[in-house]
Amino acid sequence: MPVPFFDLTRQFEAIRADVEAAVDDVLSSQRCIGGPHVKELESALAEEVGVAHAVGVSSGTDALLASLMALDIGPGDEVITSPFTFFAPIGSILRVGARPVFVDIDPATFNLDASKIEEALSPKTKAILPVHLFGQACDMTAISAIAEAHDLAVVEDMAQALGATHQGRPVGSFGSTGCVSFFPTKNLGAAGDGGMIFCDDDELAARIRRVCRHGAEPKYHHVEVGGNFRLDALQAAILNVKRAHLARWNEARRGHAAFYDRAFGDVEAVRTPVVAEENDSVFNQYTIRVSHRDRLRRRLRERGIGTNIYYPEPLHTQPALAGLGYGEGDFPRAERACREVLALPVFPELEEEERQEVVGVISEIALD
Ligand SMILES: Cc1ncc(COP(=O)(O)O)c(C=O)c1O
Repeated sequence: MPVPFFDLTRQFEAIRADVEAAVDDVLSSQRCIGGPHVKELESALAEEVGVAHAVGVSSGTDALLASLMALDIGPGDEVITSPFTFFAPIGSILRVGARPVFVDIDPATFNLDASKIEEALSPKTKAILPVHLFGQACDMTAISAIAEAHDLAVVEDMAQALGATHQGRPVGSFGSTGCVSFFPTKNLGAAGDGGMIFCDDDELAARIRRVCRHGAEPKYHHVEVGGNFRLDALQAAILNVKRAHLARWNEARRGHAAFYDRAFGDVEAVRTPVVAEENDSVFNQYTIRVSHRDRLRRRLRERGIGTNIYYPEPLHTQPALAGLGYGEGDFPRAERACREVLALPVFPELEEEERQEVVGVISEIALD
């Protein structure tokens, strides 16, 4: 039986009528920029994350970029982050003229190893940018303590982790800002690009809004250079429909993960993902580690089972970052993860027999 890595059409069919009504509402009103749908989404998600402000933006990448701009991070500044993630946070740090400083990951959680941050600090360090990878929070207790002790900003990349908690507290509520992505395959996905910035500080939130509107205050009076980083009303309307299902979808992902954990319990060749005791993951990905990853993936493909690799190459060896002076061997845990990780299907609508098929085929291949 073929099993897709991801199938968004199943989700869409279940909510088609509501999505079409929401789209029709925006088109009929022709309020395509700003308006009630954007406001509704901002206030509902701010409440869920537990912060005073949320600003809808054009993508998760722009959420990171606008956050760094609003925090006045720029040339001469260093930002501590992970070498094992998507390129967006690193690209954003470089685009404001600052320098990313990598710290290796915790091999159990794949997240930034907080115990290594202090040795990476320098007088130029201005911020920490933790990425809550695959739906699991970083050690925000430790990171917040370091940030406080050294007067650093914290920009949480929660692109993959809306709804995740650390010690019962939602991600996005720890840092100076929390940046989520609504890329279609995220836990709350738009029908295109979108993102949001969470922030508890009134002054910083106002600055973020200004940065997202070409630095204008009031309109047409530009006090700084910003950009056009707005979230579309159409996307917000669709996201409001989906938002009502997010808790249930996240619960389904957790259920799939628990099923895989149990099923792989006695398959020695498969190392299942570790969720720290103080965390509740939303499993944007369910990522196993295996030694002969590429061979396993090839054989799964032959059997019609979709998998993916997040991420095949660490950031510190990417050609675009050669100027930073890092090289192979600098972050061995991240490099090893790139060789071993394999993400299995975990989308909410995955059927029980599909999960069983994934486990059955992997166990069979692993025993070869
Ligand atoms: C960890 C991480 N950060 C940032 C982003 C960027 O988000 P977007 O694609 O919405 O720009 C993504 C995903 O795409 C991501 O996975």
